[in-house]
Amino acid sequence: MTNQAKVPFLDLVTPHQELEAELLAVAQKAFSTAGFIGGPMVEEFEREFARFCGTRYCVGVSSGTDALRFTFMAAGVGPGDIIITVPHTFIATTEAISQAGAQIAFVDVNEATYTLDPERLREYIETRCEIDNASGRLIECASRRRVAAIVPVHLYGQTADMDPIMELARKYNLIVIEDACQAHGAEYFSARDGIWKKTGSMGHAAAFSFYPGKNLGACGEAGATTTNDEAMAQRMRMIRDHGQAKKYYHDMEGYNGRLDSIQAGWLSVKLRHLAKWNESRRELAHRYHELLSEAKDSLVIPREASWTKGVYHLYVVRVQDREALQAHLAEAGIGTGIHYPIPLHLQKAYQHRGYKKGDFPVTERVAKEILSLPMFPQLQRHQQEEVVAKVLEFVTSKIGASR
Ligand SMILES: Cc1ncc(COP(=O)(O)O)c(C=O)c1O
Repeated sequence: MTNQAKVPFLDLVTPHQELEAELLAVAQKAFSTAGFIGGPMVEEFEREFARFCGTRYCVGVSSGTDALRFTFMAAGVGPGDIIITVPHTFIATTEAISQAGAQIAFVDVNEATYTLDPERLREYIETRCEIDNASGRLIECASRRRVAAIVPVHLYGQTADMDPIMELARKYNLIVIEDACQAHGAEYFSARDGIWKKTGSMGHAAAFSFYPGKNLGACGEAGATTTNDEAMAQRMRMIRDHGQAKKYYHDMEGYNGRLDSIQAGWLSVKLRHLAKWNESRRELAHRYHELLSEAKDSLVIPREASWTKGVYHLYVVRVQDREALQAHLAEAGIGTGIHYPIPLHLQKAYQHRGYKKGDFPVTERVAKEILSLPMFPQLQRHQQEEVVAKVLEFVTSKIGASR
């Protein structure tokens, strides 16, 4: 769906037009210095984004997928180790696990928050894993593999319930790497510590994507890892740059996964607007909640748990007959998305793992019913009202038809 739609799913043109002069100045600076890879603009953005997240370090890389993959490697996840995550996420989360040489173990999401369910995580650890006598490490009973890490995904801009996840990680000596690719600036109230914490600052490290449509998006591919661990940040810097800390002195094989200077400069410009944009998303979400509440018997609206201040990367409702609602909205020129229609364990890419329908029932149920409505900071009130009117029209006609 393009901006030609009456209400686009996402408008990426307006913010770039609004910031055009500042963005062009960044490109001119790069042209005049010919500093295209790394350098001062990258370092400046890394400092600013670390400050924004409340961490000591940020390492810019070429995408969110690389941020995840490099972080697993920098955290010392070894070949064959198990990394636990959810089946209700974008495939980049699990691609990064496999490409780091690790094995995926899925744990289902919570039906209210769509994020990793701490109770199911506990169940997996306590019923399917045991402490290995020889190493003292947690291993999965069936595969005898070491369980190394947990990757909670802060999906749709809402944080996972981090206190119980961190508690389990501490108890079983597991690393926690947040997938914060959809949640720049979202906050979590840690009852344990009595403070609000930003995404990126809660686990041992966190990965962010700056894909253009994200809350903080580059004008191309970009990503970053945040951490308070100096050694991990240092390893990340080497992995992203062919395993070198000094030019042509390679301590290991790495990757070409650096962040472009122009993208970093553009991200610095946009970062100054992120808090305001996130606030607009929150206001729009609360307005959607209010306007859609009259359809609450037919429509599940996003529930913001008391411990999260979400940044609504997506506004996802659940409805029976989701395809029909999507078609009804498309007919009215309203763009929507489905994030994600097929649970990862049922994707062809993971057929060889032998998962079957029914393995992760919550993910499977929500995948059939979710629909993402237009959500972006510049969404106009009249556009939002148009979306709501069409949703309510659909829901009412369904109720009428079933009488
Ligand atoms: C949850 C999640 N993880 C990882 C990624 C990967 O980020 P990138 O597209 O920048 O590689 C994305 C991006 O869509 C994502 O939504």
